[in-house]
Amino acid sequence: MLTYTLDKTAGESLYEQLYRRIKEDILAGRLASGEKLPSKRMLSQHLKLSVITVKNAYEQLLAEGYIYAEEKKGYYVCRVEGLPTVGKAAVLPPPEETPDYFLDFVTNSISAEDFPFTVWSRMMRRTILEEDKKLLSPMAYNGARELREAIARYLYQFRGMSVDPGQIVVGAGTEFLYNLIIQLLGRDKCYAVEDPGYGKIGKIYESNQVALKRVGLDEGGLSVRQLETCGADVVHISPSHHYPTGIVMPITRRQELLRWAGQSRYILEDDYDSEFRFVGRPIQTLFSIDENQRVIYLNTFSKTIAPSIRISYMILPPQLLLQYREKLWFYACTVPSFEQYTLARFMERGSYEMHINRMKNRYHQKRDAVIARIESSPFAGHVQILEEDAGLHFLLRIDTDLPDETLRRRAAEKGVRMALLSDYYTQPEKARPHVMVVNYSGIDLAKLPEALGRLAEAFEIEGGDRHV
Ligand SMILES: Cc1ncc(COP(=O)(O)O)c(C=O)c1O
Repeated sequence: MLTYTLDKTAGESLYEQLYRRIKEDILAGRLASGEKLPSKRMLSQHLKLSVITVKNAYEQLLAEGYIYAEEKKGYYVCRVEGLPTVGKAAVLPPPEETPDYFLDFVTNSISAEDFPFTVWSRMMRRTILEEDKKLLSPMAYNGARELREAIARYLYQFRGMSVDPGQIVVGAGTEFLYNLIIQLLGRDKCYAVEDPGYGKIGKIYESNQVALKRVGLDEGGLSVRQLETCGADVVHISPSHHYPTGIVMPITRRQELLRWAGQSRYILEDDYDSEFRFVGRPIQTLFSIDENQRVIYLNTFSKTIAPSIRISYMILPPQLLLQYREKLWFYACTVPSFEQYTLARFMERGSYEMHINRMKNRYHQKRDAVIARIESSPFAGHVQILEEDAGLHFLLRIDTDLPDETLRRRAAEKGVRMALLSDYYTQPEKARPHVMVVNYSGIDLAKLPEALGRLAEAFEIEGGDRHV
């Protein structure tokens, strides 16, 4: 008779334990093929279990093909071919190490008190209650109509852009949308990116194995002269606030770029943090002044709401929209309906605008607080802030003779993760040295004085009056 000790207090139910033990015996050959199992009543009496528990275990074994039933006779063990390697773990590479920094100046995160949890949860609840049917219906390939309408209205009011909701394609992050753009424009095209620039974009083109050119910048942003000679068909730029230099592309350069695009090339305009301009008016987008349908506009909710929300969108000029519908309509939208309807509601009810205004103030204050702490640290008189009018980062030139590599290494040894301008160049020697990129949105202000003290010690900087 099968004898097992089952544990009533275990998280696993009794029937699951019994099922698992019999299965293990079958797989290990302890119960041979064709062997008759005890009747449900006998086994239940023997193990002091209810008949229903044994019945459930037998039925599970039956459903999975470990045993078979013969009418009026009972249950028999099936012939199980070969022993599956149950429980044998695959050999995996060692887990990746994620260093635990005391302070991180590289990652732009958002603090918990800055996420609109109360309003967002209310919107989520209302979405479940009021949109139940829509939540379960198939989603359009380019995203929920309600969200695209809300985005079009927002862009009209706050970016002065005239966009039809039908031109918008919603996707799970700008980086995902670039993959779609490559498929739309073609793998035979040559793509150009800014150097220095947002490193991920270059990596996406490289991973897609398309021709890639790196184009340098001057004080007006991407050099159109270099672009003209490099043979690119498509260029990626962030004209409103270049990452990481902060350059705002003047109108003359924008017009030159549009002339470069002419009737045959394309410009990808990444407007990733335009909401956070602290000085002056928002800058008109290239998309708005393009008369030849050569600009694809991209924006993200990663900066205004949270990077983890993974919602971004692109706006296609009409001609490309037609091609998108013909070529790529079969891809399902990558953002879940639930998030899309919640965000649409958040935008329509004015909460997004309020949130941006609040965050603009918060970031303005935070940036000022970070600068004030730098100015009252040993770095006072040894640094110069190079650009601070916009966005969630600024540049800080440090008065030191140490090479960038040494600065980065010594900072890491002190538990501080720092980014330098040279990190964003493919040829770091071309970068202005000793310029730190301060991504400040997620910095813990309480830890900042200590982190600055550690850095000053590591860089052998002593408080004093020396000015850069
Ligand atoms: C220049 C630039 N573009 C776009 C993004 C947004 O990317 P995603 O929408 O994939 O989060 C970022 C995020 O850091 C960025 O720095």
